[in-house]
Amino acid sequence: MNPITILGLETSCDETAAAVVRGNPPGPGAILSNVIFSQTEAHAPYGGVVPEIASRAHLEILDGIVERALSDARISLKEIDAIAVTAGPGLIGGVMVGLTMAKGLSMGAGKPLVAVNHLAGHALTARLTHAVAFPYLLLLVSGGHCQLLAVRGAEDFRLYGSTLDDAAGEAFDKTAKMLGLPYPGGPEVEKLASNGNAKRYPLPRPMLARAGCDFSFSGLKTAMRQLIETPDINKADAAASFQAAVIDILKNRTGHAMARFRGDFPENENPTLVVAGGVAANQDIGDGLRALAGENGFALCVPAPALCTDNAAMIAWAGLERFAAGASDPVSTGPRARWPLDASAT
Ligand code: KG4
Ligand code: ZN
Repeated sequence: MNPITILGLETSCDETAAAVVRGNPPGPGAILSNVIFSQTEAHAPYGGVVPEIASRAHLEILDGIVERALSDARISLKEIDAIAVTAGPGLIGGVMVGLTMAKGLSMGAGKPLVAVNHLAGHALTARLTHAVAFPYLLLLVSGGHCQLLAVRGAEDFRLYGSTLDDAAGEAFDKTAKMLGLPYPGGPEVEKLASNGNAKRYPLPRPMLARAGCDFSFSGLKTAMRQLIETPDINKADAAASFQAAVIDILKNRTGHAMARFRGDFPENENPTLVVAGGVAANQDIGDGLRALAGENGFALCVPAPALCTDNAAMIAWAGLERFAAGASDPVSTGPRARWPLDASAT
């Protein structure tokens, strides 16, 4: 089969991104360009993403980002097979900017439009990078989501568990804020934790005694707040203790999901655990999950950190998978603020 070339656009949160990816399922694909403009600085004074600022910034720079993605890839729109774009879930204003741009390009160049679920982008990155075969177990840990899923196909997900309150990345971001660290907090907490004693402060590990694969981080967050309000705490030790608690929670829940995956896919003798989403960029979390995978006979696949956080290469690839299967979408396709990967689970 001839390789497929896709232009992908991502504007669902605070990254304005465009990329050109070429290949065929199951991968790996070639990333011909991957342009990301992070709005971190614009949002930093507010300690989080401000939707109105985000959509305005997307609107101002998306044009130029798309041009750069095409020129970096040394390709013209004519040579692209289809245009993939995040159609949700995410901040609706930003999603609309990307979707409108993609529709314009699609109509202008006469190229098919492929609407992509942002979460599917994260979920399928391991195929773009490592050609991981279906089915695989996915731990999706980002700023907005914390889920365990069986990935059976590019559009076929079975939800094993999700967070009952905060996402893992959100817990990192809130902890960072409490510690007086800038946004986004994950990398900052990780840096601080690397000099800390993880055993210094005992913190709760919610849900550990429960069956199933659901997560909860709010009890840990409350305990962190109380700890940080205590006089004379050592911030590095607090960050390390927090990160150790998150690792224990993620390992415990993922362990349960591994058992369930084995039961659901007994023919898959050498299963793979894929970790995706921004939090997967955390080295200590990666190490913890590598140990868990080893204990349970799973291979571990963690895409490179730059492909774990939001980017458009993952959107182009998820679009490529859909397009290769014959899918495309009408220009009437609307943005979706909510869009679960496993619709049957909601
Ligand atoms: O996937 P992503 O870029 O955006 C969403 O779709 O949410 O994930 C961003 C999240 C933020 O909460 C950020 O703090 C977290 O991922 N994150 C990390 C690390 N790098 C990013 N969390 C822990 N450790 C890191 N190194
Ligand atoms: Zn994301």
